[in-house]
Amino acid sequence: MASHHARTPLHNYHLYFLSFLALSRLVSAQTENYIIHMDLSTMPKAFANHHSWYSATLATLSKTVPKTISLDLSSKLIYSYTHVINGFSASLTPSELEAVKGSPGYISSMRDLPVKVDTTHSFKFLGLNSNSGAWRESNYGENVIIGLVDTGVWPESASFNDDGMSEIPSRWKGECETGTQFNSSLCNKKLIGARIFNKGLLAKYPNTTIAMNSTRDTSGHGTHTSTTAAGNFVDGASYFGYASGTARGVAPRAHVAMYKALWEEGGYTSDIIAAIDQAINDGVDVLSLSFGLDGVPLYKDPVAIATFSALEKGVFVSTSAGNEGPFYGSLHNGIPWVLTVAAGTLDRDFYGVLNLGNGVSISGASLYPGNFMKTRVPIVFMGSCKNPKKLKKIGRKIVVCQDKNVDTLSTQYGNLEDAKVFGGVFITNNTDLEEFVQSSYPAIFVSPEDGEALKNYIKADAQPKAMMSFRNTVLGTKPAPKATLYTSRGPSPSCPAILKPDIMAPGSLILAAWPANTSATEADGRPLYSQFNLLSGTSMACPHAAGVAALVLGARPEWGPAAIRSALMTSSDVYDNTLSPIKDIGFNNQPATPLAIGSGHINPNKALDPGLIYDVEIQDYVNVLCALNYTVEHIKVITKSSSLVDCSKPSLDLNYPSFIAFFNANDSKSDAKTVKDFQRTVTNVGEGKSTYIASVTSMEGLKVNVVPKKLVFKEKNEKKKFKLSIEGPRMMKQRVVFGYLTWVDNDNKHVVRSPIVATNLDSTAVS
Ligand SMILES: *[C@@H]1O[C@H](CO)[C@@H](O)[C@H](O)[C@H]1NC(C)=O
Ligand SMILES: *[C@@H]1O[C@H](CO)[C@@H](O)[C@H](O)[C@H]1NC(C)=O
Ligand SMILES: *[C@@H]1O[C@H](CO)[C@@H](O)[C@H](O)[C@H]1NC(C)=O
Ligand SMILES: *[C@@H]1O[C@H](CO)[C@@H](O)[C@H](O)[C@H]1NC(C)=O
Ligand SMILES: *[C@@H]1O[C@H](CO)[C@@H](O)[C@H](O)[C@H]1NC(C)=O
Ligand SMILES: *[C@@H]1O[C@H](CO)[C@@H](O)[C@H](O)[C@H]1NC(C)=O
Ligand SMILES: *[C@@H]1O[C@H](CO)[C@@H](O)[C@H](O)[C@H]1NC(C)=O
Repeated sequence: MASHHARTPLHNYHLYFLSFLALSRLVSAQTENYIIHMDLSTMPKAFANHHSWYSATLATLSKTVPKTISLDLSSKLIYSYTHVINGFSASLTPSELEAVKGSPGYISSMRDLPVKVDTTHSFKFLGLNSNSGAWRESNYGENVIIGLVDTGVWPESASFNDDGMSEIPSRWKGECETGTQFNSSLCNKKLIGARIFNKGLLAKYPNTTIAMNSTRDTSGHGTHTSTTAAGNFVDGASYFGYASGTARGVAPRAHVAMYKALWEEGGYTSDIIAAIDQAINDGVDVLSLSFGLDGVPLYKDPVAIATFSALEKGVFVSTSAGNEGPFYGSLHNGIPWVLTVAAGTLDRDFYGVLNLGNGVSISGASLYPGNFMKTRVPIVFMGSCKNPKKLKKIGRKIVVCQDKNVDTLSTQYGNLEDAKVFGGVFITNNTDLEEFVQSSYPAIFVSPEDGEALKNYIKADAQPKAMMSFRNTVLGTKPAPKATLYTSRGPSPSCPAILKPDIMAPGSLILAAWPANTSATEADGRPLYSQFNLLSGTSMACPHAAGVAALVLGARPEWGPAAIRSALMTSSDVYDNTLSPIKDIGFNNQPATPLAIGSGHINPNKALDPGLIYDVEIQDYVNVLCALNYTVEHIKVITKSSSLVDCSKPSLDLNYPSFIAFFNANDSKSDAKTVKDFQRTVTNVGEGKSTYIASVTSMEGLKVNVVPKKLVFKEKNEKKKFKLSIEGPRMMKQRVVFGYLTWVDNDNKHVVRSPIVATNLDSTAVS
C-alpha cells in the first residue's frame, strides 16, 4: 500500500509534542516536499517493515535537530512507497533534510516538482474492424486492465457503461474509494478502480481546499483519455453535431482503473509516484500516462523512476511525447523502458460553408459549436483586419480578413472577437488551425484560392451578402496521417542514444467522453456543455497507443512490455493514405523524420503478427544507465537499492527496434570518416522455419551496412544476431538524414521495419 499510515511508531511523538503546536505553524511555512530514496538492504532487522523504518527515520529528526520543533511527525511523512521506489516522501525544513541525509540507509533526495498535463472515428483510421485483426483476436481487449494516472473520471458518462463487459478479473486488488460525490456504487465492470492521491499537494499547500476531493473529474482530461483508451460503445455521440457516430475506445472491452493525481489545484511528483505504485500493486496490465516533466535526467524523473518497477512487473507503459514541437530535443518521457507516443492527424475535417449572394458556395475549416441563425447578412473585406477601432464600427456583418503571413492570424481572430461582428472569414495559408477552429463566434478559415473568388464577389456585387452554415464533417481526407506541428521532437534530452519518440498515434481533434458538468467549450460568451469533446495533443495519442497495447496483450498474453513495444514499432506504417511518406505539418509538409513520428503510425492489426521481436532484458536497461555515467546512487534510485548494480558492461547500444547515430564531432578532423556500430538480436515469433533478408534504404552521405544480410530461423523463439554499421563524416552537414532497415521473410508475409537516424544534433544527455 502506498498511502497507509501505520500509527504505531509515530503516535507517542504526536502526543509528546502537542504543546508546541503554535510553533509548528512557523516551521511548516519553510518546509518543502522531498522524495527520499533509502537503501532497503541496510534496514535494521528490528523493523517489521520498511514503513516503520521510514517513520522511525523521521522520528529521530526531533533529536538530531534541536532547533527544529517537529511536532506532528506523522504529518511529515507524506507517502511511504512500496513498489516503485525504496523510500518515502516527506515535508521537511532545510535542517530536517540535512538530518535525513545523515540517517543510516539514506541514498539521495529530490524536491517534489509540479507536473502539468500536457472517438467516433480514430479506431477506423487505425484499421480496426469487428471481423478480423486485433479487435477479433483480443475480443476488444477483454480481461485487460488499463490504469491511468490523470485528473479522474466522470463515472456517469455513457462510455463507462458496462454492457457486454466480462467479470472483473479475480487477480484485481484495486478499489473504488469513497469521496466527494463519489462512492463505490459508481464503479462497475468497466470502471473497476478509482483512487485519489493528493497528500503531496496538501503538504505543499496545507491551506488548499480540494474542490472535488474524489476521483470525480472536474477538468475533463482524465475522462477523455480513459475513454479514448477503453470507452465502451455509445451510439449517437458527437461534438455539437460534428464527428457524429458511435463512440468507442480503442479497446472497448478492457477494464479501466483511474488514479487521480492531477488536480485543478495542482499536481506533484510525490502523488504521481504514489499513484503508479498503487496501480502496479492493484494489478493493472497497461498504464497510460499523459503528462511528463521537461529537462530532468532519468534519475530525477518520477515517470522514469516509477515505471522501472512497472517493467519488472510486466506492466506495459504508454506515455505522451509532449506538445512542445516542432523543435528538436523538445520531447519528454524519452525513457528507454516506456513507449513514447507522438501525435498525428486523422483523415477527418470539420468545415463551415459560406453561401454567397451569387449562388456560389465556399467551404473552409470550422468547428464553431454555437447556436446560430441561418440568415443572409452583408459581407465586407477588411484586408489585414489590424485596426480594432475600424472593426468596431462595422456592426453585425460578416468580415473577411486576409493575413500577410500566418503569424497575424491570431491577432485578426482576436480583433474580430472584440469587435463583436456577426462572423469572420479568414483567408489564410495556415495549416495548423487547431487552436482557432473551435471558435467562440461564427468563423470559417478558407484557402487563398477560395479567398480570391470570395474577394472577387465582394468587389463585383453592389450589396454583397452571404450566409454561413456549420456542423459539417468529412471523412477520408488526404493526405493523412500527418505529424502535427505541436508534437514534441527527439532526440530525447534524457537519453539521446535511444531514438525517440517510438511511434505516432492519432492525437488531433479526438472525440471522447467529457464530464457533463464541465463546459466543453465556450461560444458567444456562454459556456457550452457536451457529453463528448474534441481535444488535441500527445495526451490524446498516448491512450490510443495504450489501447492498442491492451489489444495486443489480450491476443498475445505471453508477450512482455519490450516485445509488445517492438511489435508496435516494427509493424507501424511509414506511408500515408496517398501511399506517400507521412508528412510533417511542422516542417512545411516535408516527409516526417523519425524524430517526429518514431518508427511510424501505429497499426494494431499488423502488431499482432510482427514476425521478429527485439526483446530487452532488465539488465540491458541498467547497462544504459551505467553508460550514461550515472553514479551508483543515481542508478539505485531507478532500479531500487536492494538489487545490486552491475555496471560491468556499460552500453548505450540497447536491443531497440530503431537506430540513431550522432555525427557531431566538432574538431579539426571533421572531414575524416567515422563508423557507428550497433548490435541487435531478433527473436522469431512467427511460426517455425523462416528466412529473412535485410534491405536498407540509401541515406545521403552515409554508408549503412548490415551483417549478415540473411537470417535463417529453424524454429519459433529462436534468436539471431546481426550488426548494423553507419559510416559517415565526423561532422554531418545536414541536420537529420534518415532511412530504414527492413527484414522481409521469404513469402513476404512479415515486414519488420526499423528507422535509422543520422544527425549532427547535440548528443549530450541532461544531467
Ligand atoms: C479527502 O478525502 C480523503 C478520503 O478519501 C480524506 O482522507 C482527506 O482528509 C480529504 N481531504 C480533504 C482536503 O478534504
Ligand atoms: C453511494 O451513494 C448513493 C447516493 O448517495 C447511495 O444511494 C448508495 O447507497 C451509496 N453506495 C454505497 C456503496 O455507499
Ligand atoms: C494557512 O492558514 C493559516 C490560518 O488561516 C495561516 O495562519 C497560515 O499562514 C496559512 N499558511 C499558508 C502556508 O498559507
Ligand atoms: C500561400 O501559399 C501560396 C502557395 O504556397 C503562395 O503562393 C502565397 O503567396 C501564400 N499566401 C499567403 C497569403 O501567405
Ligand atoms: C451536475 O450538475 C447538476 C445540475 O447543476 C447537478 O444537479 C448535479 O448534482 C451535478 N452533479 C455533480 C456530480 O456534481
Ligand atoms: C561517459 O564517460 C566516458 C569516459 O569519460 C566518456 O567517454 C563517455 O562519452 C561518457 N558518456 C556519456 C553518455 O556522457
Ligand atoms: C565548433 O567549436 C568552435 C569552438 O568551440 C565553435 O566556435 C563553433 O561554433 C563550433 N562549430 C559548430 C558547427 O558547432
